Amino acid sequence: MEIDSIDAVQELLAGQGYVCGRPLGTVAFLALRLGRPLFLEGEAGTGKTEVAKALAGALGRRLIRLQCYEGLGTAEAVAEWNFAAQMVAIRAAEAAGTDAQHLKSELFSEEYLIERPLLQAMRPQDGGAPVLLIDEIDRTDEPFEAFLLEALSDFQVTIPELGTIRAPEPPIVVLTSNRTREVHDALKRRCLYHWVDYPSFEREMEILSARVPEAKGTLSREVVAFVQRLRAEDLFKRPGVAETIDWAKCLLALDAVALSPEVIADTLGAILKYQDDIQRVEGSVAKAVLDDARARLATEG
Ligand SMILES: Nc1ncnc2c1ncn2[C@@H]1O[C@H](COP(=O)(O)OP(=O)(O)OP(=O)(O)O)[C@@H](O)[C@H]1O
Ligand SMILES: [Mg+2]
Repeated sequence: MEIDSIDAVQELLAGQGYVCGRPLGTVAFLALRLGRPLFLEGEAGTGKTEVAKALAGALGRRLIRLQCYEGLGTAEAVAEWNFAAQMVAIRAAEAAGTDAQHLKSELFSEEYLIERPLLQAMRPQDGGAPVLLIDEIDRTDEPFEAFLLEALSDFQVTIPELGTIRAPEPPIVVLTSNRTREVHDALKRRCLYHWVDYPSFEREMEILSARVPEAKGTLSREVVAFVQRLRAEDLFKRPGVAETIDWAKCLLALDAVALSPEVIADTLGAILKYQDDIQRVEGSVAKAVLDDARARLATEG
């Protein structure tokens, strides 16, 4: 399928069960068209990571994921030498009497290289350039961010013993951040930026019916209205779309047909993940939130 419009991107993602609004559809289209990385920032569980998965699925490209964490370095991100295999080769060479110079060039060849996500993403793939997901970049430290900036500017990485490896066709890059810290401007400038917000009631209903089609009628409307209203409470961690989906699945497993204060109390752990939040909401707050949610559903018909 030719990606010649924003509509086409939205349709492609919808085909993967991903509900994509016009603003996200626009930046995703532009990122593909201009060959620029897509930078998605937003609250937890709002569907950032899923964009990369859905894009890869829709385009039939390989998905390569670099999960970021504190202390992530080039050995884990780009490549490292397979020391164990090199040792075995040295022993074998000693036994066979191979000359040292020849051995050295052999040991630092690609055969002994363990390729990690960034290098894999620079390699040609069947079906076209891969989708490279650099997930939760806010968890890495600044030196690594600076390194990434370079790698993403010219889509190449350098391995000291081997030289520079350049992607024949640039990967489709998606970066995500939960904004636990600000990512450097220089990196953001390379990318097209989009803030992934909590969805509106209507959109969250669409997502729920795409992801949990068996949740129908009153229950799914109440679940979404409740979570939407709950996000307005003063919580340590507000529930994301992921929590809405999980909760609906839990309620279905319990054969609930509608919400009640008792059912909510029993299943609150599916939407709130901090004991302080649960304690705050349990009881009268849950009841009030449910009443508000129902009132809203009633006025909207
Ligand atoms: N617009 C959407 N359409 C379909 N499913 C969605 C959408 N948004 C979120 N989801 C679902 O919500 C869940 C969480 O999404 P995802 O893991 O992408 O969130 P995230 O923003 O990366 O969260 P985190 O910051 O915690 O990593 C997934 O199961 C995904 O399928
Ligand atoms: Mg994620």
